[in-house]
Amino acid sequence: MIAKDHLIIFDTTLRDGEQSPGASMTRDEKVRIAKALERMRVDVIEAGFPIASPGDFEAVKAVAEAIRDSRVCGLARALDPDIDRAGEALAGAAAGRIHTFIATSPIHMQKKLRMSPDEVLAQAVRAVQRARRYTDDVEFSPEDAGRSEIDFLCRVLEAVIDAGARTVNIPDTVGYNIPDQFGSLIQTLRERIPNADQAIFSVHCHNDLGLAVANSLAAVRNGARQVECTINGLGERAGNAALEEIVMTVRTRQDLFDCETRLDTTQIMNCSRLVSGITGFAVQPNKAVVGANAFAHESGIHQDGVLKNRETYEIMRAEDVGWNANRMVLGKHSGRNAFRTRLQELGIVMASEEDLNAAFSRFKDLADKKHEIFDEDLQALVTDTTLDAANERVKLISLRVCSETGETPCAELVLAFDGEERGGSARGGGPVDATFKAIESIVTSGTELKLYSVNAITSGTDAQGEVTVRLERGGRIVNGQGADTDIVIASAKAYLNACNKILQPVERAHPQQGHV
Ligand code: KIV
Ligand code: ZN
Repeated sequence: MIAKDHLIIFDTTLRDGEQSPGASMTRDEKVRIAKALERMRVDVIEAGFPIASPGDFEAVKAVAEAIRDSRVCGLARALDPDIDRAGEALAGAAAGRIHTFIATSPIHMQKKLRMSPDEVLAQAVRAVQRARRYTDDVEFSPEDAGRSEIDFLCRVLEAVIDAGARTVNIPDTVGYNIPDQFGSLIQTLRERIPNADQAIFSVHCHNDLGLAVANSLAAVRNGARQVECTINGLGERAGNAALEEIVMTVRTRQDLFDCETRLDTTQIMNCSRLVSGITGFAVQPNKAVVGANAFAHESGIHQDGVLKNRETYEIMRAEDVGWNANRMVLGKHSGRNAFRTRLQELGIVMASEEDLNAAFSRFKDLADKKHEIFDEDLQALVTDTTLDAANERVKLISLRVCSETGETPCAELVLAFDGEERGGSARGGGPVDATFKAIESIVTSGTELKLYSVNAITSGTDAQGEVTVRLERGGRIVNGQGADTDIVIASAKAYLNACNKILQPVERAHPQQGHV
């Protein structure tokens, strides 16, 4: 049997994914996601854009220091300060990569860069040479390659490979290409560039026309051996190619692909839930692979077929992507050890024994209200305890809401704010509105509410509601999460979680608000 090529999975959830409007992540959240990606055996994790802000630098540095089994990458424009900053942020990585880029399409060169093609080429070469001072692993991207002229693209790529780029990434930056065309672009580049065999060809497709996954796979069928993608397809505008779709297609259709990934696909659901919980970007129920309905059979004919033989209607096994066949995992009588073990199985590592104890005590409270505790409940519960106590300036002590037909809803609450107990009350359009106003009467955060969303974590009327609140102040965006069987309390927790983040000194501007 001929060994298949290795298809490198380059995850850019923490960089391009974070460029989705509102999907901002704190440094610690980035580290949590990076650890989940490492556990899934992703080859390369693009952790951010170190020059964008001091906070972005710190986040890339923290990921580089925390990750041992995946390569950590930092993005840099083809400029000396960007490259130096990326090199510095990656210094502690077990294996680091600098990814440098400059646009090569006529419209970008003329209108954005105001540079001639020769100037762009020279700057690309200089950037790769400079990045090689920090690491042997340098990736170069001709931004907007999907709309670049083929002759110029070939010249640039040949020159950067000569200068030491080991990966050349072909971005369809604006999601303009279609599969046949993009596949043949990769084939043409590989055939025409004389030193093409000295670099790995990678692709990075955006989803503006809904073709990011199809374009990436067409490229793989034409020799690309790295795909850049994100969990749940998160990313700038309509997003990037979804990692789970790429990986499961290559795995399911091994008859058509002469390569394979090294991923542990059973970790896909974990990563998907973690990213959607942290960013507040819910996964649509009919989303391929990770949507709640991806493996649900509703029609009688389908159910009958699956019962007789699951392959009649299922091309993948739900458990292979981490959906649990036996979903009830823990209950009221489960002890601390069972709790810890299940967290470990889910890839959740608590930072300290105190964090574990806090999470366990929340688990016990939850188990009192809800008989069956599912993996999704555990994940939400842990998300709830991730803000370390030192950073939690404001905390909910008690909340009472009244909601009655014909009456204006009201909320009364007590918060601990910088250690001092303070009470507040307000009326509002509904109990959640009243609760948020009552919190603001004490915290006066000066923020604008940008998003409020509630999701039932599991099924049943005793399910926990998982709430995401997005707040903005002066261009800074934070996401807060809260979960509870009472959705008004979950909403208060989410609002306070977001307030605690906004009350911290500016850790990092959102990359779109940074000085780049
Ligand atoms: O979409 C794009 O072109 C990018 C590059 C930085 C690779 O994100
Ligand atoms: Zn991109």
